[in-house]
Amino acid sequence: MKRIGLLTSGGDAPGMNAAIRAVVRSAINSGIEVYGVRRGYAGLIEDDVIKMDEMSVSGISARGGTILRTARCLEMLEKEGREKAVATLRKYGIEGLVVIGGDGSFHGAKCLTEEFGILTVGIPGTIDNDLEYTDFTLGFDSAVNTCINAIGNLQDTMLSHERVCVVEVMGRRCGDIALYAGIATGADAVVLPEKPYDIKEIASRIETTRKLGKFVNTVIVAEGCMSGEEFAKKLKEFVPYDIRSTCIGHIQRGGTPTMADRVLGARLGVRAVELLGSGVGNRVIGIRKNEIVDMDIIEAVSMKKTFDTTLYNTLQMITM
Ligand code: F6P
Repeated sequence: MKRIGLLTSGGDAPGMNAAIRAVVRSAINSGIEVYGVRRGYAGLIEDDVIKMDEMSVSGISARGGTILRTARCLEMLEKEGREKAVATLRKYGIEGLVVIGGDGSFHGAKCLTEEFGILTVGIPGTIDNDLEYTDFTLGFDSAVNTCINAIGNLQDTMLSHERVCVVEVMGRRCGDIALYAGIATGADAVVLPEKPYDIKEIASRIETTRKLGKFVNTVIVAEGCMSGEEFAKKLKEFVPYDIRSTCIGHIQRGGTPTMADRVLGARLGVRAVELLGSGVGNRVIGIRKNEIVDMDIIEAVSMKKTFDTTLYNTLQMITM
């Protein structure tokens, strides 16, 4: 393989830049040229392509977001859009494509593979941690750390006013950000799309903690279940305490990536190039039990995310 393409697609995630850097540097070190596609599949359709050299990725690992920028591209859902994307790949003589993104982006890669025989390798870049085949997605660790810092700030002021703090976090249909943030911040309850919740039980738990001398309560709500605002409104009917709801929003998607995401990005990027370099495509890469693994893209996108019941039970065991 002489020339590969690289794009980031869907919601950006901290660590994407570390993966970009790893793909570019390891490809060049293996004698492969790299073309970066700006704005994801939209840029591929519109021929927004740049040649990348070693220096084009210098100093980017510490930066959140993606230097290639990204987009959610509806045109890729149409055959016509995909044909335009492939025409751009052919124009530049790009033989293999690295796609950094979530499951929607992987579906695009899967179509390029199935319909046009383009070799693709997917790197899981999303804060949501919603892909079954990998233990962690790139950006999840940073997003959770951003959430726990924000929740820590909230807890300071909520404690001063003896309030109940309801915090909405992202994750689309997956509750992992909420669950991990809940454990890490000592939340009194976590409301997730994967588990039914009982508002009366949450209210009585808050009451118990108050009787034991706790003056602040934290409830984390995953956006896939409902909004924090909506939950706070419901909870108000059952608790006498002052409640404030905060939506962390896109703040959790930006910022300096953690060590875990920078190192994961580097490992995933290097493996992507190894695979394409040896003529292997139609794969996605992930991490399982701290080993970098790869699997068939079609199989990976058809897997349903399972909920980590053990971790959920851990949370239950450490709440009052
Ligand atoms: O998939 C990442 C994510 O941040 C989700 O957690 C969230 O639901 C969505 O993207 C928000 O998308 P947008 O930035 O397009 O509003």
